[in-house]
Amino acid sequence: MDLIVRRANLPDGRTGIDIGIKGGKIAAVEPALKAQGAREIDATGCLVSPPFVDAHFHMDATLSVGFPRYNRTGTLLEGIQLWGEMKPHMTRDWYIERALEYCDWAVGRGLLAIRSHVDTTDASLLDVEALLDVRRRVKDYIDLQLVAFPQDGYLRSPVGVKNLERALDMGVDVVGGIPHFERTMAQGAESVRLLCEIAAKRGLRVDLHCDESDDPHSRHIEILAAETVRLGLQGRVTGSHLTSMHSMDNYYTSKLIPLIAEAGVHAVANPTANILLMGRHDSYPKRRGMTRVPELMAAGVNVSFGQDSAMDPWGPLNGGDMLDVAHMGAHVGQMAGHDQLQLCFKAVTENPARALGLEGYGLNVGCHGDLVVLQADSPSEAIRNRPSRLFVVRRGKLIAEGPRMDSRLSLPGRPATTDFARKTKAPAALKPR
Ligand code: FE2
Repeated sequence: MDLIVRRANLPDGRTGIDIGIKGGKIAAVEPALKAQGAREIDATGCLVSPPFVDAHFHMDATLSVGFPRYNRTGTLLEGIQLWGEMKPHMTRDWYIERALEYCDWAVGRGLLAIRSHVDTTDASLLDVEALLDVRRRVKDYIDLQLVAFPQDGYLRSPVGVKNLERALDMGVDVVGGIPHFERTMAQGAESVRLLCEIAAKRGLRVDLHCDESDDPHSRHIEILAAETVRLGLQGRVTGSHLTSMHSMDNYYTSKLIPLIAEAGVHAVANPTANILLMGRHDSYPKRRGMTRVPELMAAGVNVSFGQDSAMDPWGPLNGGDMLDVAHMGAHVGQMAGHDQLQLCFKAVTENPARALGLEGYGLNVGCHGDLVVLQADSPSEAIRNRPSRLFVVRRGKLIAEGPRMDSRLSLPGRPATTDFARKTKAPAALKPR
């Protein structure tokens, strides 16, 4: 074997598992693997996960916070306005420099697949050109999937239709849109129909910013589900944000959620972004604005958590750690049950991998030799602590290492603690059941 990771805890609860990688692929997953590895990593008691996946990001805007000014209100609309002020002064080099810097951050946090929307509004399509270059430059360590995103509206912007086609011709992977930002509900619905037809014709996937609003009557997700069925796009379509669903009445969602499940439409919530941006027209009570994650999951919809923004006009926070996103998702969605925390971990690993259509993803024999060793013993521990990524492996090669975090206490009789490793001894009557 080229690499063996020994005595790992896996996300499904198995412990003491050895993972052998040969020729860039996982060749063995079993306890006490007999083979020898050219390199071996001791992962005793550590969670070993497939890499993190971000289903929703804007890499053209990342790491631009504060240029040319900060978003004073922190609202979505001021963010869009600020992005408009910034765009005419952007250079191809600055798009590339920021994106590559962010990709370095991502690798250090074990985030090895990203779906990024890229704004197709500017006539130069400089950002599209730059991110296609970045996709090529990072391909050995990050799967970067690009979405043609008409930020100012596919029909509303005079260049929306033409530029989206141009971006797809240039090699952008996925068809994007923003139906709730079109002039009318009818034009929003029309844009959904047209964008799905483009995807069907070109054999592409679809990922729309859909109903990113607190308006309970913003219901383009219904049209998206219907168009998915009409055009036979099941499994290839994603509705991103879906925040209006937070505000819809329960009777309507009891019809809508089964329609989404039936159409095989993937859902993406963006907990860190949604909790900052939604409910801004409310006084109190103030809506959280995240879509109905537990209810969608219970209905069989594939739900992912995305990051949306990292240090850009829409938010000064985030930095490529999908465990931060899962942590926020668990809080906003009130998903603190043990099994629900497992689902939150899946929402930043295997669920987005499915939405992106990543091949060879996972920790099974025959999958790509990609994994992350975390200084935590389980998915719930990882979400709680957002711990160090001790080793990040891509195609069997070590591409990042993180420090083991210990607190060296100076208290008499108290040993060093890693926060997760030391367990207290409970009375026998309280044995977990
Ligand atoms: Fe977005």
